[in-house]
Amino acid sequence: MIPSINPLVLNLKESATLSINKMVKRLRKEGREVFHFGFGQAPFPVPGIIQEALRSNTHHNTYLPTEGLPELQAAVSEFYRNEFNLDYRPADVFIGPGSKELIFQTNYLLEGALLVPAPSWVSYGPQATIRGKRLFPIATERENGYKLTAAALDRACHHLGQQQKMLILNNPNNPTGAVYREDELREIAQICRAYSVLVISDEIYAMIDFTGEAYTSLSRFYPEGTIVSGGLSKSFAAGGYRLGVMLIPEELRVIKDALKSIISETFSAVSAPVQYAALAAYSRFDEIRNEIKINNEIYKFASRYLCRRFRDMELNCPKPEGAFYLFPDFENYAEKLRARGILTGISLTEDLLKKKGVAFLPGSDFYFPATNLGVRVAVVDFDGAEVREAWPGAAKMNESRTMELFPRLIGGCDRLAEYLEDMG
Ligand SMILES: Cc1ncc(COP(=O)(O)O)c(C=O)c1O
Repeated sequence: MIPSINPLVLNLKESATLSINKMVKRLRKEGREVFHFGFGQAPFPVPGIIQEALRSNTHHNTYLPTEGLPELQAAVSEFYRNEFNLDYRPADVFIGPGSKELIFQTNYLLEGALLVPAPSWVSYGPQATIRGKRLFPIATERENGYKLTAAALDRACHHLGQQQKMLILNNPNNPTGAVYREDELREIAQICRAYSVLVISDEIYAMIDFTGEAYTSLSRFYPEGTIVSGGLSKSFAAGGYRLGVMLIPEELRVIKDALKSIISETFSAVSAPVQYAALAAYSRFDEIRNEIKINNEIYKFASRYLCRRFRDMELNCPKPEGAFYLFPDFENYAEKLRARGILTGISLTEDLLKKKGVAFLPGSDFYFPATNLGVRVAVVDFDGAEVREAWPGAAKMNESRTMELFPRLIGGCDRLAEYLEDMG
């Protein structure tokens, strides 16, 4: 029997991310050393109070309400007010099994086109494909850190005409490490308001911000049309707990009602013990604030170190301002690569992995054309627990300490430098 599959699901192709990950696994099995810059997962331990809350709440065996544990909704609302100055009530908060699922369900229930800046996170596009939606990537410029501009958004909205439009803006950004400034967000908000664009502001990295300025959300300037998403996965280092949050303004009540229905017919509610663990994270944040601050210092150090090395190798690399990614490109080597038959980002990343054991993801996974020579680099191939234990503070870091704490980042850069030198 050959089962017949939903054609929209059949349209999903295996992403280059998966094929690179498979290759990494295969090479490691063969005993090869691989420097894995392809995988974006928080490397630090889950803060103790969150682990303890999970352990002591295993007896909760009943289904929780569809939107989430009421105490957790209240704690998330309060947290976003205190930390980000955002005004969402407890009833505006939804708890889901990861923000990815909440973004998917919101994407699913809304009609119209999905706009994303190119580059953007790998999963937004396939989520639109599954729903049969039109995906509309908006071009950005490297000189501007690959950030969406109000002018480009204006052109895209104008082009799409009357149909409903939804934008997903990820800030701080995966794959570029960019952080939007307040003036940029104000201008984007104006365009969103003019065209009634529904926005998901994906703020899963909101607390990983190196700018030294208070983090600003698009929601500050466009509260009536902005849905904010976040969760435990990145700054709280608990991706495997699978808990995400979504804050939806009262003006978008129809979305809230639809989301409640779709949740009640799908995952029902997030695991109860995990919701109690999240309650500790959001309601006792002051107890882990310092731990998270130190983790951020480490992300910043690792990101800036890699950026410096890449620039020394003549790669074009916008300065990372947050999250744990960089997006350097090999345009300065395009001629030499072409001479070796490497014309696409995928062939570049496969060649680098085969020859030097360095794993990057190609720009085509982030809505760039196949010929784009940008790559996404995750900066987290280090032992988070060990680094935090030994962390002397950024001011005291020197070359030998960097070698001690981040040997794989250094090893990967050295291999990459060799690869570029081999080209002559
Ligand atoms: C930009 C972005 N949004 C959302 C997510 C999903 O996070 P969650 O673990 O909450 O589903 C990720 C995780 O990699 C991400 O990078």
